Amino acid sequence: MGTVTSTMDIVRQLERLGAAEGITVIAASQTRGRGRAGRSWQSPESAGLYCSILLRPRISPYRFQPFSIAVGLALCEALDPDQQIGLRLKWPNDIVYQEKKLAGILLTTSLGGALVESAILGIGLNLHPDTARPDHAISLTEIPGSNPAAVEQLFESIARMIGLRYDAILCEDPERALADADARLAFLGRAVAIEDGSMTHFGQVIGIDDRGALQLATSSAVVAISSGELTRGPRS
Ligand code: BTN
Repeated sequence: MGTVTSTMDIVRQLERLGAAEGITVIAASQTRGRGRAGRSWQSPESAGLYCSILLRPRISPYRFQPFSIAVGLALCEALDPDQQIGLRLKWPNDIVYQEKKLAGILLTTSLGGALVESAILGIGLNLHPDTARPDHAISLTEIPGSNPAAVEQLFESIARMIGLRYDAILCEDPERALADADARLAFLGRAVAIEDGSMTHFGQVIGIDDRGALQLATSSAVVAISSGELTRGPRS
């Protein structure tokens, strides 16, 4: 493990060179770690798990759609197997503890014809506290009851859980891919706002559907929202 710009960049290069599915890059630190929506991901030396994995699903985007939610659930499962700690998936791609962000997921896909030819899955997991991180972040060692093992060991259990759910996606079994979604979903039953481009949806979170979309009971209907950022709080 060394320092890289971003593990996403390295895996992208390997993908272009024809690397096989499963190839993984884990870095000790990143100089240009990135998150969703153009944000940066602070990646100080040895304070987190920073990794990217190459996948070659070769299925339709429709079938692949629930995968990023499945990864979030796999992370919760690996880090909080008995649901004793209270880690939750904040739809769509954050793992939180009491509303503080513990981990984030970045998924990029490349199409080949009508199929997802390759995907690069990036995971950033805060392991130890670091002043470079924003206030709303938390690390695994700060969470009571957590089991902060060595990076390699943590990666192994995370990869195992992702593998099981990825297999369910490839077998077209969204129920298995998204198992336990409601139990592990943050803000279930709560009023939230979802910002999606220029639109904001307000409503009560009622679950995740078999496409990984967030089901929201608005004042007029139940709607399924497939992308956006969840910001807490009722309509003001
Ligand atoms: C997010 O929450 O916005 C997603 C964060 C993803 C961060 C990880 S760290 C490893 C990989 N390399 C990157 O540059 N980003 C992802």
